[in-house]
Amino acid sequence: MQTPSDPFDPRHFDDVRKPLDQASTMPPWVYSSDEFYRREVDRIFMKVWNFMGHVDQVPHPGDYVALEFVGVPFIICRNMTGELRAYANSCRHRGSKVAIGSGNVKEFMCPYHGWCYGLDGQLTATVDMDRTAGFCKEDYGLTPIKVDSWGGFLFVNFDPDCESLADYLGDLPDNLASHRLADMANVRTVEWELNHNWKLFVENAKESYHIAVVHRETINQVAPVTSADYTVSDTAGQYCTTFATHEGSMALLKDDPGFPPIESLEGRYRQGTYAPMIYPMTYLACTIDTAWFLQLFPMGPKKTRLVHGACFPRDRRDRPDFEARAANYYKRWDRTILEDIEAGDHQQAGIASPFAQPGRFCFREPLVHQIDNWILDRVLD
Ligand code: FES
Ligand SMILES: [Fe+2]
Repeated sequence: MQTPSDPFDPRHFDDVRKPLDQASTMPPWVYSSDEFYRREVDRIFMKVWNFMGHVDQVPHPGDYVALEFVGVPFIICRNMTGELRAYANSCRHRGSKVAIGSGNVKEFMCPYHGWCYGLDGQLTATVDMDRTAGFCKEDYGLTPIKVDSWGGFLFVNFDPDCESLADYLGDLPDNLASHRLADMANVRTVEWELNHNWKLFVENAKESYHIAVVHRETINQVAPVTSADYTVSDTAGQYCTTFATHEGSMALLKDDPGFPPIESLEGRYRQGTYAPMIYPMTYLACTIDTAWFLQLFPMGPKKTRLVHGACFPRDRRDRPDFEARAANYYKRWDRTILEDIEAGDHQQAGIASPFAQPGRFCFREPLVHQIDNWILDRVLD
C-alpha cells in the first residue's frame, strides 16, 4: 500500500477510529512514510514530555549529558546548586554544539571560538567582541529547554508553553508510590538498534496477544496470558497501563533466584506487575523486586534506537551476591528484548509490502488501538 497524496485526511483512518471490536489496524504506510514521520515529530515529539532516562546520568552539580532526540541536540545538566537545567546545544555565536558527550564542568566552552556559558545558561565570556556594535552578553545565553524529573526519571519538553510534567503524568505517580522509584538506582543500560518504526515497538510493548508465541519460553512461563490477565485500567494522565497478576518476579526466567520483594509495596503490587506506557513511547515495568524502562529514540520512519534501563532499590547493590543475582535479570531482559526486536523487524518487513493491508484487532490488543488513536488525535488535520 503506497502512501496516499493526502496522508492526513481523516478519512484514511475511519476504520481505526471505530470501537475496538469493529476497528481495523493502522494503514501500513504510517509505519514507513517520511511525511507521516515528519508530522509525528512536529505534532508529537516537539510538544510532549519526552523521557530522557535516569537522573543517575547527572547526579552532582556540574554534571552534564549531551543528547540528541529527533534531530534536536540539547544538554541536560545540574547547576551549581544541584537543580536540573536543559539547553539547546547550539552556540549563540554561529551555532556549534557547545557540549559533547558527558562529564562534569564549571562552564561550557564552545569548541569553535571559545564563547563560555555558565551552568545556568548565561554567556559568561567571549573573545574580541568589543568592536561589535551594541553586543551585550546578557542577550546571548543558551536557549533554555523545559526539564523535570519524576521517580528518578528525566523528561524534557521542547515546547516552551507546555503543561507541567506533573499535569502530564496525572495519577501515575500516585499509582506507583509504593514502588518508591526515586529510591532506585539505574544499575545498567543496554542499547539496541531496531530496524522498525517506533510505533511498532510501542504497540508490541502494550499488547499481551504475542506473549504466548514470541515469549513462549520466557515471559509466558512466568506470567501466562491466560492466567495473568494483563488487565487494562483507566488512567488520568498521558499514559495507559496494564496490571498482570502472577507469582514471583516478571523480570526473571522461571525458577531463577532474584532479590527479595521491594519492602514498601502495598496491596496488589505485591502480586504482579504494573506496566504503564507514558505517551508517546516510554514503557515502564514495575514488578515486585525491580523496575525497568524502555526508552526509544526514533531515527526516522524505519529506524529506532532503544535503551533498556534496569533499576533496583539502591541497597541491593550492597549485597555480596548483587552481581550474581542481577545477572539473572539481565539474562531475562536481554533474551526477551531480542524476541521483541525480531518480531518488530519481521513486522516492518511485511508491513512495507505493496500487498500489505490493514488487519483487525484481537480483544487482547485494546491498548494498541488506544495508542494508535492517541497518535491520530495529534497528527491528523
Ligand atoms: S560558534 Fe560558538 S563560539 Fe563561535
Ligand atoms: Fe514482547
